[in-house]
Amino acid sequence: MALITTKEMFAKALNSDYAVGAFNINNMEIVQGIVDAAKAENAPVILQASAGARKYARPAYMKKLVEAAIEDTGIDVVLHLDHGADFEICKDCVDSGFTSVMYDGSKHPFEENIKVTKQVVEYAHDHGVVVEAELGKLAGVEDAVNVAARDATFTDPEEAAEFVERTGVDSLAVAIGTSHGAYKFKGTPYLDFERLQKIHEIIPDTPLVLHGASSVPQEFVELCNKYGGNVPGAQGVPEDMLTEAAKHGVCKINVDTDLRLAMTAEIRRVMVEHPEEFDPRKYLGPGREAIMKMVQHKMRDVMLCSGKAL
Ligand code: G3H
Ligand code: 13P
Ligand code: ZN
Repeated sequence: MALITTKEMFAKALNSDYAVGAFNINNMEIVQGIVDAAKAENAPVILQASAGARKYARPAYMKKLVEAAIEDTGIDVVLHLDHGADFEICKDCVDSGFTSVMYDGSKHPFEENIKVTKQVVEYAHDHGVVVEAELGKLAGVEDAVNVAARDATFTDPEEAAEFVERTGVDSLAVAIGTSHGAYKFKGTPYLDFERLQKIHEIIPDTPLVLHGASSVPQEFVELCNKYGGNVPGAQGVPEDMLTEAAKHGVCKINVDTDLRLAMTAEIRRVMVEHPEEFDPRKYLGPGREAIMKMVQHKMRDVMLCSGKAL
């Protein structure tokens, strides 16, 4: 099996009720936990590395870890750059064998975002690599409290259509109320499904991407806190909202925070319950298991992509 792009994967997911999970990778145990889950569920999978993850693991290790995962499991994997900040990092990832890159120009003015996205698309497509871009700003806990604030930060459907038309991008990350990290909502969780539907209606052939889609399961927050952690009041996107989003053009659902929580909670538990242990395999192993279980649950019960591998 091989490193593949998202093309066929998204074409299948676009007019279906499921989405493909994109999970952030930082080290060997995280990679293994995710691909073991994908194999067990016969699910499509995207492994995504941020610039920070590449710096931490080092680019050569990152690439070889993913190649090893493919060799070991025999599954197809997409290797994706998460939140590329400029043309250069996107080019570097294309040149080093990534099959998908994200250029994130969401913080730049519309025309600037279009200009660089187009440049990345031209280079990536010339090399058989697909591109994700982002339009709109992922709201923080304090933002998007009223309609005016939402219009100012969330993705505008008309702009999305113009953006896709002018850039030729393969998929588009949209802002509809999610945000990165473990503190997504202060009160009741809210996603702008009306806006999502409008975007999907106006660009029905463009796979949409949901960033900041961790659910922050309370059992892991509680475990972290019980074993000496300090993540009070963390709250994520309810799982049923993610399942709903998959029905309206969302083909890729990004998860990082939940992996961090699952691994950290389990490592904390082992360290507190077995203070005599100092063999890293004794806590990293359970951490890897926790990631696998978490990812399997998401694939099977939330993204509904079990059994959908190509
Ligand atoms: O969206 C960002 C991802 O969670 C990656 O985070 O830049 O700390 O690796 P990072
Ligand atoms: P979370 O912080 O919700 O896991 O989002 C991850 C993400 O969007 C990576 O690009
Ligand atoms: Zn993101």
